[in-house]
Amino acid sequence: MQNENASAKTPVLDARGVGKTFPARRGNPAVPVISDVDVRVLPGEFIALVGPSGSGKSTLLYCLAGLEPANTGEISLMGVPLRGLSRARLAKLRRDSVGFIFQAYNLVASLTVRENVALPARLSGKRVDRPAVDVLLDQVGLGGRGSHRPAELSGGQQQRVAIARVLAAQPRVVFADEPTGALDSRSGAVVLDLLQQAAASGTAVVMVTHDMEAAARADRVLVLRDGRIQRELVRPTVEDIFASITLPPATSTVTA
Ligand SMILES: Nc1ncnc2c1ncn2[C@@H]1O[C@H](COP(=O)(O)OP(=O)(O)O)[C@@H](O)[C@H]1O
Ligand SMILES: [Mg+2]
Repeated sequence: MQNENASAKTPVLDARGVGKTFPARRGNPAVPVISDVDVRVLPGEFIALVGPSGSGKSTLLYCLAGLEPANTGEISLMGVPLRGLSRARLAKLRRDSVGFIFQAYNLVASLTVRENVALPARLSGKRVDRPAVDVLLDQVGLGGRGSHRPAELSGGQQQRVAIARVLAAQPRVVFADEPTGALDSRSGAVVLDLLQQAAASGTAVVMVTHDMEAAARADRVLVLRDGRIQRELVRPTVEDIFASITLPPATSTVTA
């Protein structure tokens, strides 16, 4: 949720003029994917990134999260410019402050649910004791499942483990690439509730989705087309989002 004093806060993410082109390879030409993207995200904001398949949503999200280098522009996370950071400093910044949720959960199959949740926090040197992990599992509705392996859970349950795992590391910003893409609508709604709660408690969330209902939960929706932000909608309804993605290309800001 956006706070009244939000403008006074340091952005968790500040990106200016971001561009990304995949280089030519094996006779294939270079692929320009992202151009001239500006995004500023404050603590506790919930942002959705929507757009047609192939419009560059995942690529942009990876660049913004520091998982993929941008070619042009400036990206700062928690006020730290990514350009020129050593791999080690970037890895530390990501470990300390950034969470990433994938469509495909990416849990470690050989570890229990409890071990999966504790893993990234342990790697970043944060203390996560068993009671703390169990509290998180309760919060995502999986109390009592701590000793299970991921394969013993449904897709929706696995995604909730992935969210608990991200939240255990207490990130300042969570990036999620189609986190409900593989889920039925009921499980998807639970996952969206959790992301919304995380935002309400001050963790910024940047979520790629092709689900307009999911996008309508966001404070702001960025509509991407051909690698550019075509529109920005503030607290739009599902109908507003549908209308905006079916409009012809134009650059404008619409306040719902
Ligand atoms: N590693 C890569 N090398 C070359 N082209 C890529 C690579 N990754 C993505 N692309 C291209 O970038 C475009 C955008 O892809 P993507 O960001 O995955 O879009 P979206 O998530 O919106 O579906 C697509 O044309 C895709 O083929
Ligand atoms: Mg994608």
